[in-house]
Amino acid sequence: MEKKKLLFVCLGNICRSPLAHYVMLKKIKDEGLSDRFEVDSCGIGAWHQGESSDHRMIKTASRHGISLKHKARQFNPPSDVRNFDHIFAMDLNNYHDIINATEEELKHKVKLFRCYEEGKAGSLEVPDPYFGGESGFEKVFQMVDRNCSLILNKIIGK
Ligand code: 4NP
Repeated sequence: MEKKKLLFVCLGNICRSPLAHYVMLKKIKDEGLSDRFEVDSCGIGAWHQGESSDHRMIKTASRHGISLKHKARQFNPPSDVRNFDHIFAMDLNNYHDIINATEEELKHKVKLFRCYEEGKAGSLEVPDPYFGGESGFEKVFQMVDRNCSLILNKIIGK
């Protein structure tokens, strides 16, 4: 069976998208579906290319049993959108940057990461925790954890 390929995109690829990447890998593993998925993450900006994730994000993830071992890389259009089946943007700026770099017939692959949160009034963005305090990282973890479950369930039809 063809593997489903998921790509998570944020601005720097050191906080939000690597967290989604590794939380999703764990959920896929827990479901016994590791041979059916490929997961990656990247950032719109190039500032942190090759760097490990933010130490505050690593610490928060580790408290929840998730080990972040990612090295940041920049989003690479148009091949990233061609290669991946589902591209999830963490916020609206990321979403528009990806959409603007995506061929018309592939735009349907690009979604907001929180798009499956039903009945949610207001913002469907994952706030950038980079310039804020520690509590922002825990908030992002809870949001990412919840939405990775929603996304996985949607894809596997659970
Ligand atoms: P991320 O957070 O997009 O969740 O990885 C950021 C990390 C770094 C920067 C911005 C956002 N930065 O401006 O360097």
